Amino acid sequence: MWYNNILETIGNTPLVKLNQIVKDIPATVLAKIETTNPGNSIKDRMALKMIEDAEKSGKLKPGGTIIEGTSGNTGMGLAMAAIIKGYKCIFTTTDKQSKEKVDALRAFGAEVIVCPTNVEPEDPRSYYSVSSRLEREVPNSWKPNQYDNLSNSQAHYEQTGPEIWEQTEGKITHLLVGVGTGGTISGTGKYLKEKNPNIQVWGIDTYGSVFKKYKETGIFDKNEVYPYITEGIGEDFLPANVDFDTIDLFEKVTDKDAALMTREICRQEGIFVGNSAGAAIAGLLQLKDQLKPEDVVVVIFHDHGSRYMGKMYNEDWLRERGFLKDEKLTASTILAKKESSEIISIDCEKTISEAINTMNTLNISQIPVTQKGMFVGKLAEGDILKALLENPSLKSAPVESIMTSSFPFVDLNTSIDKISSLINKENSAVLVELPDGRFDIITQYDIINAIKG
Ligand SMILES: Cc1ncc(COP(=O)(O)O)c(C=O)c1O
Repeated sequence: MWYNNILETIGNTPLVKLNQIVKDIPATVLAKIETTNPGNSIKDRMALKMIEDAEKSGKLKPGGTIIEGTSGNTGMGLAMAAIIKGYKCIFTTTDKQSKEKVDALRAFGAEVIVCPTNVEPEDPRSYYSVSSRLEREVPNSWKPNQYDNLSNSQAHYEQTGPEIWEQTEGKITHLLVGVGTGGTISGTGKYLKEKNPNIQVWGIDTYGSVFKKYKETGIFDKNEVYPYITEGIGEDFLPANVDFDTIDLFEKVTDKDAALMTREICRQEGIFVGNSAGAAIAGLLQLKDQLKPEDVVVVIFHDHGSRYMGKMYNEDWLRERGFLKDEKLTASTILAKKESSEIISIDCEKTISEAINTMNTLNISQIPVTQKGMFVGKLAEGDILKALLENPSLKSAPVESIMTSSFPFVDLNTSIDKISSLINKENSAVLVELPDGRFDIITQYDIINAIKG
């Protein structure tokens, strides 16, 4: 059996149970993995549907040019369909979008115009305005307008909704979806609610977007709008595809939580997905108290992780935005993981023989030496052996006669890298100066213990 062209492979995506990442959620959580669409995103569905409906209505004519403002995924679906159906594509996108997305559109032969993000939608430079202008100027062109074109949500009403209903055998109780144009949530949610009106439809929004406040108050508040990093979801206007009656609630997720959760989905579930999947799972965790063990939640994973290699999957990018948890150990964290923190030392006036006894009893090979409570040196097994071989009567000599220089001193903020560089054959430990003037000690063993967790 074969498909006649790549477009026939769109849809029928797998539904996969999540295990680790949702272990604190008292419900069954299933992810609809839309990355298996040929363009690696859910948008293939609506892109083809918009084109087919425009062909039927005569808006898109043979040899025409498709012009759209797209953040990438819709463009990919449109560009793919355009190749098979013989259309040209010009896309406008914003400078916020991943470079990978823009390059991928160009790989499909599309012309891509990158516009500034931080301008009003009505601004002539915005990607909405530029695409509208091109539509007027380019002959035989058609602008799908994924925001207001209801073929978008209709695609999900006809495909995504029925697939989920069948895959869960009607057991779905909650649908959770990141909302951008609103097509996915509105079409899928409408179908599912027609099957079972008790199904809850939850939308994930971002800080910097207008949806949540509008749903809760009916007020379109421009003050809610500010630039954000999360891709694919949230808007600064109300697209016709967002059906606020179908959506029961919106939950906002921060850029940082969405970015870090995107990585965790990959690490904990082995599912390589994009930023809006991270936002969706972070949002679900925020809402977990509203769920019961018998609930069956379906979360949409819109697109593939490969489009975010320069962003959420790049540690430098995360670090620059302060998103990366500081995973580096310091003296402070190493000490916190130590069981006993009593520091053993010997006074410089004690005899070498007393030092040997102390070291034997405690089974240690090096010991700090003090004078009036101050650290002035150290005594190591090797130094004792060398001295006694040369002159056995030194046993009754004071420690200070053979001690060597003190262990290096560090403070609580010293990094594990620095501490490790100070520890060698001559120094098996470092002394940590505490804020109250006392000292603690970190040995090689303590470092190994801290690293292994
Ligand atoms: C990665 C990603 N996630 C989520 C969405 C939101 O889907 P919808 O536009 O159907 O609301 C989009 C839409 O562009 C997207 O590209």
